[in-house]
Amino acid sequence: MDELFAICRTIEIEDEQPRGFWLAVRGEDGTVKPWPIIVVRKGSRFFGYENACPHTGNRLDSVPNQFLDDEGNFLSCGVHGAKFDADTGNCFIGPCRGQNLTPVTLVIDDGDVCVTGVDLAEEDGLDLIEAEVPEVEIEQG
Ligand code: FES
Repeated sequence: MDELFAICRTIEIEDEQPRGFWLAVRGEDGTVKPWPIIVVRKGSRFFGYENACPHTGNRLDSVPNQFLDDEGNFLSCGVHGAKFDADTGNCFIGPCRGQNLTPVTLVIDDGDVCVTGVDLAEEDGLDLIEAEVPEVEIEQG
């Protein structure tokens, strides 16, 4: 089984309040690269995506305050307004319609939200100051 990397407690992510994380992964050549991800909660289910819009590769939250909504069904890209189903990451409207956010494999382990299937370089990227951590909200359909 792949190694699990706990990134937060499940209680730290609320419905309708996706949370962004700046992680760092080690590539096959050993280089460490920033890996921003988003975790979305819908009840007891959690969904993870790389925080990169399929349209240009920008972070979805690179334009602040463009993600708020009340119901929590859709992620929205603040750059050009693409909307993604929170359950699947599929873009249903916007310039990248039909494309998908890249999923991140999450495992819930004893109340922790864990990423797995990657070589996480914990010492490089998990200690960014709070102001650098992306914030993402989801919106209703
Ligand atoms: S960068 Fe996301 S819609 Fe254009």
